[in-house]
Amino acid sequence: MKLISVSDEEELSRIAAEILFTKVKSAKRLVLGLATGKTPQGMYRYLSKYSKEYKQSYTHIHTVNLDEYVGSTTYHTYMEEHLFQHIDIPNDQTHIPDGEAASLIEECSRYEQMIKELGGIDLQVLGIGENGHIGFNEPGTSFDARTHVVQLTDSTLKANAKYFVDSKQPKQAITMGIGTILESREILLLAIGERKANAVKELFKGSLNEEIPATALINHTNVTVLADKGARKLLDKES
Ligand code: F6R
Repeated sequence: MKLISVSDEEELSRIAAEILFTKVKSAKRLVLGLATGKTPQGMYRYLSKYSKEYKQSYTHIHTVNLDEYVGSTTYHTYMEEHLFQHIDIPNDQTHIPDGEAASLIEECSRYEQMIKELGGIDLQVLGIGENGHIGFNEPGTSFDARTHVVQLTDSTLKANAKYFVDSKQPKQAITMGIGTILESREILLLAIGERKANAVKELFKGSLNEEIPATALINHTNVTVLADKGARKLLDKES
């Protein structure tokens, strides 16, 4: 696992956007796995800015998001706001699990099949939960899991409650499985702030442990972690 140390959120956002933008520019076709949440917001801001400045087209890009709340379009709205409305990606090349599907089980298999038909994910961007979750794969999830419906833990509900001040927070989500994520050819994990320090420490100092889902990445051969000072706090202390 490669670690890129940055000082703060601003630098992390810029570097993450540069990594993505370089790929978008040079690839003939690219399947980008995307995350939502607070962490990648700055990255999307820079990516949108670069794309406008350089008049970069996205017609050769397909996106596949990690997750969506059940009964909600929260992350669809998020992606529209933070990225899709700023670039020329065709609608039918953006994919996010349908949290409002009549059959959630069928939606999970459809999502898996869709990723397969796209030829898999070239680069998957991940955030990380305080409890080490990736996507919404909560502690205890099998490392073989495919796209499935999850019951969100109290820790995750609490961390994300701020996005639901005006509406009821769903307690379930559809998430790409850890097994699905691990099949991505490359992974870029972003971690900002001291709240993520323990999870980041487990990634670099820990061993495979289903109670800390992100440790599944230890066995992947092409993972880059971009971490700011706060997120590296427990690493620096010990090294
Ligand atoms: C979001 C996702 C989650 C978040 C994680 C961190 O699509 O998959 O795993 O990356 O919960 O969230 P923030 O960035 O809000 O701290």
